[in-house]
Amino acid sequence: MSMMDTVMSLDELVDESDPDVDFPNSFHAFQTAEGIRREHPDNDWFQLVGLIHDVGKTMAFWGEPQWAVVGDTFPVGCKFQNSIVFRGNTFLDNPDEANPKYKYVRL
Ligand SMILES: [Fe+2]
Repeated sequence: MSMMDTVMSLDELVDESDPDVDFPNSFHAFQTAEGIRREHPDNDWFQLVGLIHDVGKTMAFWGEPQWAVVGDTFPVGCKFQNSIVFRGNTFLDNPDEANPKYKYVRL
């Protein structure tokens, strides 16, 4: 299977961590690569990374559980960003949520 086939196969994946996305996953890959190309036209390696950044999710097709291959990553040791998917209802019991040291978002 070529890399482009792998990118296109992402359209068959229902990403449980991104249920609010209603366009094909390959669209996200091309959108990311194009956005990087617009901002960094001289960094072709960066554009490629944008295109393939989610292909690891295809490991779900071979039996890896989705929790291990999809989802957001976020910094810890600071305030959780509001952009984290399901932040509003999945972080309620996280003790860091109430830690006064973590009242700022790291940028
Ligand atoms: Fe992505």
